Amino acid sequence: MTGSPRLFPESLWTPLKMSPFCCWGLCVAFLALLCCPGSGEEAFEVHVSPEQPMVKHGGSQVINCSTNCTKPENGGLETSLDKIVLQDSPQWKLFMIFNVSQNSSMRCFFWCSRKQGSKSLNVGLYYPPKQVLLKLQPTRVAVGSPFTIECRVPSVAPLEGLTVTLLRGSEVLHSQTFEGTALSPQEAMVTYSAEAQLEDSSHNFSCQAKMDLRTRGVKVVDSVSDSQALEVFGEGEPPEEVEGDSSRFSPSEEEKAIALLSAGSGGGSHGPALVPRLPSSAVSSLELSPSSQSLCKTTGW
Ligand SMILES: *[C@@H]1O[C@H](CO)[C@@H](O)[C@H](O)[C@H]1NC(C)=O
Ligand SMILES: *[C@@H]1O[C@H](CO)[C@@H](O)[C@H](O)[C@H]1NC(C)=O
Ligand SMILES: *[C@@H]1O[C@H](CO)[C@@H](O)[C@H](O)[C@H]1NC(C)=O
Ligand SMILES: *[C@@H]1O[C@H](CO)[C@@H](O)[C@H](O)[C@H]1NC(C)=O
Ligand SMILES: *[C@@H]1O[C@H](CO)[C@@H](O)[C@H](O)[C@H]1NC(C)=O
Repeated sequence: MTGSPRLFPESLWTPLKMSPFCCWGLCVAFLALLCCPGSGEEAFEVHVSPEQPMVKHGGSQVINCSTNCTKPENGGLETSLDKIVLQDSPQWKLFMIFNVSQNSSMRCFFWCSRKQGSKSLNVGLYYPPKQVLLKLQPTRVAVGSPFTIECRVPSVAPLEGLTVTLLRGSEVLHSQTFEGTALSPQEAMVTYSAEAQLEDSSHNFSCQAKMDLRTRGVKVVDSVSDSQALEVFGEGEPPEEVEGDSSRFSPSEEEKAIALLSAGSGGGSHGPALVPRLPSSAVSSLELSPSSQSLCKTTGW
């Protein structure tokens, strides 16, 4: 059987008969068979591309399983996910897996000379930023008083590759990148504090979340929040009633906080007298701001 010409494909055998160079190749083939008794088959490898695919939650992915076995008998992709064959050639098969709703491992395999070779791969899920929630706190503020911009991006993963950028008009106020390879979706949050300037009221604030997983073969995904305006009133103007968000503290207490901060920046002599009247929630939210922290020192908190 081993000596039979029929062992070789017709296309190989025909030129072998004609060329001395090919005869040498034939000898090498025999030697290979003789020198490695037991194995008896050519060494071959199975490849898969991409090696570590990232798929959007609920999305689909094309996977190329290939081998360098010259005449594989069979091949396939073992997975619990739904799949279809897109293209089929002897040495490679193109599959599409779809409706990927959990990260899972799968296996590409080929049979070559009755031996199976395989390659496993893990499909990781990513959750692109869908919602970007912006909150200005407060939404109406006196010139020179602090306000906080908070941006939340719920249900994203992995955090690596995510950049959250706070914008005033088209100007970048703050940009933050994240770390973490966890595949379970979580919330990314950025807070930033600044002192209100008059020109803040002539631009809208917005927040952009951008996920860049190009190193994992995924296109950049970005999502932008609704834009929001900050009302800035001058020193002399009386503060108006603040609407909405009374969950953290009431408008009048918020005004006290602002008054305290104005007093503090003006020397701080009246500051401590107001402290007992500040609700603790207002204090903790003000502590987010670096400027209010330095103020706390000057007023002796
Ligand atoms: C397949 O690739 C491996 C590693 O590069 C090599 O050892 C093997 O000889 C190749 N097999 C064939 C049939 O080309
Ligand atoms: C699949 O991979 C093989 C080996 O890398 C390559 O030769 C072939 O062109 C690929 N097929 C497609 C459709 O990309
Ligand atoms: C994806 O899977 C879900 C639940 O497993 C199913 O309800 C939905 O119909 C599937 N979608 C497609 C396109 O197969
Ligand atoms: C899938 O993700 C979970 C966490 O979300 C992790 O514990 C598990 O090991 C992952 N499985 C694979 C095959 O990557
Ligand atoms: C801010 O946004 C509102 C509504 O989205 C829009 O009407 C207004 O013109 C914007 N203001 C600026 C300065 O872009």
